[in-house]
Amino acid sequence: MESPFKADVLKGKVALLTGGGSGIGFEISTQFGLHGASIAIMGRRKQVLDSAVSGLCSQGIPAVGFVGDVRKQEDAKRVVESTVKHFGRLDILVNAAAGNFLVSSEDLSPNGFRTVMDIDSVGTFTMCHEALKYLKKGGPGRSFSSGGSILNISATLHYTAAWYQIHVSAAKAAVDATTRNLALEWGTDYDIRVNGIAPGPIGDTAGMSKLAPEEISNKAREIMPLYKLGEKWDIAMAALYLASDAGKYINGTTLVVDGGLWLSRPRHLPKEAVKQLSRAVEKRSRGVPVGVPKSKL
Ligand code: COA
Repeated sequence: MESPFKADVLKGKVALLTGGGSGIGFEISTQFGLHGASIAIMGRRKQVLDSAVSGLCSQGIPAVGFVGDVRKQEDAKRVVESTVKHFGRLDILVNAAAGNFLVSSEDLSPNGFRTVMDIDSVGTFTMCHEALKYLKKGGPGRSFSSGGSILNISATLHYTAAWYQIHVSAAKAAVDATTRNLALEWGTDYDIRVNGIAPGPIGDTAGMSKLAPEEISNKAREIMPLYKLGEKWDIAMAALYLASDAGKYINGTTLVVDGGLWLSRPRHLPKEAVKQLSRAVEKRSRGVPVGVPKSKL
């Protein structure tokens, strides 16, 4: 799909994306690159990074991959420093690395809970922590008039509750809190904008195949307001909006990109039935016999 943004909205910017070699992260890498940014991606698997980097380069995007695990502070530090060494500066950090699996709370070990907290919540903070000195206004390679920006990929699970995802709900709630708190502190002190995106079910991703086998996603479609899965492109366009100057006054928000899914619930009555029922109930409550025309009263 063609982008509605001009091809130079991120011209001259350098973006580092954790989890940027696959899934939603890779689509954001690609779209950022196609809109003028140089791309560094961080991930645990070398072959995934290599193939992502060659995919980006083949589209004319300056790209580099660094192997690292966001759970390790030394990896975070090394990758942020290597990015700045390679491209000369850092403007945008996207925290897209995440871990997930379905498990009932009673079958989840504390270590399983901690593992996802470590990747999603602590990992996000660690990357932000290591990137701060490069993102702040006046940081290496940037002027004293503007800071960089951060995007944290979250979810909507914790807005209500989610079956078999207590660990991810807790982790993403912490990510959203981190987004707001950093937006307050670093927005004020360093002119860094910190925002998030909460994707709904996005087709063709590891998340969907891991968390929503086909039978479940077909069922979910019946109650989804826009009646379809999202595309990775939808998330990448939201990311472009938030990371580019289009979003220059947006700070501390987590943009839900889910077609309204998190608001949805099964329809308990058909629309026609509700018309009749509600009129009948009203008349009954006013003591009017149901079914007697107005002219006869
Ligand atoms: N059900 C229950 N517990 C599970 C589990 C599952 N499907 N998968 C892992 N765990 C538990 C393990 O049993 C272990 O706990 P224990 O020591 O008490 O037994 C803990 O989680 C850590 O598992 P381990 O396999 O050692 O972690 P890892 O660091 O190798 O992998 C994961 C991290 C588990 C998050 C792995 O799924 C991953 O790497 N995911 C990244 C990709 C991804 O999830 N993408 C989807 C994004 S939505």
